[in-house]
Amino acid sequence: MTSVADINVTRAEQSKLKDINLENLPFGKYFTDHMLEVDYENGEWKNAEIKPYQPLLLEPSVAALHYGQAIFEGIKAYKNARGEAFIFRPYDNLKRFNKSAERLEMPQVPEELFIEGMRLLIEIDKNWIPSQPEHSLYIRPFMFASDEMIGVRPSEKYKFIIILSPTGPYYAAPMRINVEEKYVRAVSGGIGFAKAAGNYAGAMQATARAKQKGFDQVLWMDAIEHKYVQECGVMNVFFIIGNTAVTPGLTEGTILAGVTRDSAIALLREMGYTVEERAISIDEVMEAYKKGTLKEVFGTGTAATISKIKALNYKDFEMTFNVDEWTACPEVKRRMDAIKYGREADRHGWMFKI
Ligand code: COI
Repeated sequence: MTSVADINVTRAEQSKLKDINLENLPFGKYFTDHMLEVDYENGEWKNAEIKPYQPLLLEPSVAALHYGQAIFEGIKAYKNARGEAFIFRPYDNLKRFNKSAERLEMPQVPEELFIEGMRLLIEIDKNWIPSQPEHSLYIRPFMFASDEMIGVRPSEKYKFIIILSPTGPYYAAPMRINVEEKYVRAVSGGIGFAKAAGNYAGAMQATARAKQKGFDQVLWMDAIEHKYVQECGVMNVFFIIGNTAVTPGLTEGTILAGVTRDSAIALLREMGYTVEERAISIDEVMEAYKKGTLKEVFGTGTAATISKIKALNYKDFEMTFNVDEWTACPEVKRRMDAIKYGREADRHGWMFKI
């Protein structure tokens, strides 16, 4: 499969859009009229088709269901005031997708298939892109092992699929976060940097327990000393200490290289902040809070965009913040939204026109 001309398109007879209110959407609940589905077999991608959104027919022995050879991405498309549609930094997600694929011994998805398949799918369903503030079309490309065989080895067959979900904000309000002291998300040498399904499964118990205690998410610590900050829930995390923005570095391979993280770093630098990508311990965070130099804490992610953290709990000590007084986080969000929704020129080349 080398050309977008090889994608067979079957259109839905009727659109479901008339049944859906594109304002005030929950995250990830509704799906558009079409999906892209492609098979990998005998070393090549084939049977590429865009077809009405529908269930998959799978045998119970399908390898991904047993051993978790499954990866995904999260990307968003936006509409500007003139009704033109754009995807935010899709090439960066393609790069990360193929890094995840490599780590899980899965095949690479060619650029033409990933980008052009996505573009064509969104073009067909572009009426589904919401135009409300905080709303967008969430794009979910994913790949899973589809061998019907329960021996443990890399699958020989895979499916690559893209589905689209018109969506509202992931976290509607500033969050309360608990520092996780027992469970860990990732260890150096593991799969923490990959957007692998298993990373999310492994996070669920700790997150559920934090929720039972009234928190929204957990802040993950490193697996050896339980001291160095990794990620926060499904987001990367930033601390504004004085005039410096500190975010955990990527060199250990335990943190997802967030596209929103990278965009926030660029915007913070343009706003005059020094940005440090480095190890930061929870003790350093606490010390800065007690000295009064810890100004803001926020998370970044495709789904979450830029989300304020209003409280951070560590060993029964709660750091609380008056989020209404913040300047850095709201300005990063304002600038990023202005670029995404086409209110400001795209000087970084982040927006890919559909
Ligand atoms: C994203 O931010 O796109 C994610 O993948 C996080 C979550 C919805 C799984």
